[in-house]
Amino acid sequence: MSVRASKTESGPSIAIAGVTGAVGQEFLRVLDERQFPYSNIKMLASKRSAGRQYEFQGEKYTVEELTEDSFGDVDIALFSAGGSISRKYGPIASAAGATVVDNSSAFRQVEGVPLVIPEVNPEAMAGMRAGHGGIVANPNCSTIIALVAVAPLHRLAGVRRMIVSTYQAASGAGQAAMEELEQQTRDVLEGRPPTTNIFPFQYAFNVFSHNSPMLANGYNEEEMKMVKETHKIMGTRDIRVTATCIRVPVMRAHAESINLEFERDVSEEEAREAIRAAAGVQLLDDREANRFPTPLDCSNLDDVFVGRIRRDTSRDDNRGLNLWVCGDQVKKGAALNAVQIAELLI
Ligand code: A2P
Repeated sequence: MSVRASKTESGPSIAIAGVTGAVGQEFLRVLDERQFPYSNIKMLASKRSAGRQYEFQGEKYTVEELTEDSFGDVDIALFSAGGSISRKYGPIASAAGATVVDNSSAFRQVEGVPLVIPEVNPEAMAGMRAGHGGIVANPNCSTIIALVAVAPLHRLAGVRRMIVSTYQAASGAGQAAMEELEQQTRDVLEGRPPTTNIFPFQYAFNVFSHNSPMLANGYNEEEMKMVKETHKIMGTRDIRVTATCIRVPVMRAHAESINLEFERDVSEEEAREAIRAAAGVQLLDDREANRFPTPLDCSNLDDVFVGRIRRDTSRDDNRGLNLWVCGDQVKKGAALNAVQIAELLI
């Protein structure tokens, strides 16, 4: 961590619930990178981690056990410790006056809780301030990455239908899943049976349907999150959405193939121009060199990368486009988006 300091008495007091996890650690990196002002940072995790120490901007912090009393002096609480922890402690934190930015799915569909991508719908959290309580939900990682790219095209020509196939990284399943992918890769290359603690079968050198629970309609929860969250974030149910979510052996960035149907004709060039002009996205669309975004290109970066913008030739009209999108799951898919939300609170 760098020695830059953005500690200032006038800054909000921050708590990070789940600081030892993959996203919790990324919260610290992003707060540092963005020089987020703070007067204090409280690092919270389970009892197992209490006493562990982290250095942040030249100061040592000791991890405390997350309890009902953790939030009395907190203005902004960043939560990434799983849905059940958010459900239990989010309302407690809010009642104590902390404004909660929650990375879990616990409150995303709760009426009155804004679900926000700052580049897309910042107005949804208008009036909310640090230290005044309330909960803002951070959307699902795949939804964030898709919509940062799709929203400028929706503003351009009105998206009517969106068909998404995802290629999702290990990080979305947490730190332990990333470690399992690394361990299994070693196991397989060294001729040992793969260690399977997190997923029930081999992950390294394999691809499988997303591990979230299956629902009665044949979709998994991750796929239905994309449908419902898109409607809430875009403020309309008129965008029809269907998704297939797949886990691939990539460490920390998701890729997505997206087919869009628009209200009117859209040219490839118009779409490229809209992406070029939008915040939070970069165009990498070099047909001549056959060079398009990869998960590694965007790993550890803030922006979502977009390429392969091309007409949907299965249609007789010019109202369809395909695109290929990559974004860092831990960053824009989780920690960065949450910190951008926190920036809107101060
Ligand atoms: P801990 O390391 O103490 O278990 P990930 O999503 O990468 O798996 O991280 C999950 C995060 O949620 C970790 O920081 C983890 O802390 C935290 N966590 C899990 N269970 C609890 C709990 N009961 N109370 C507080 N934090 C928890």
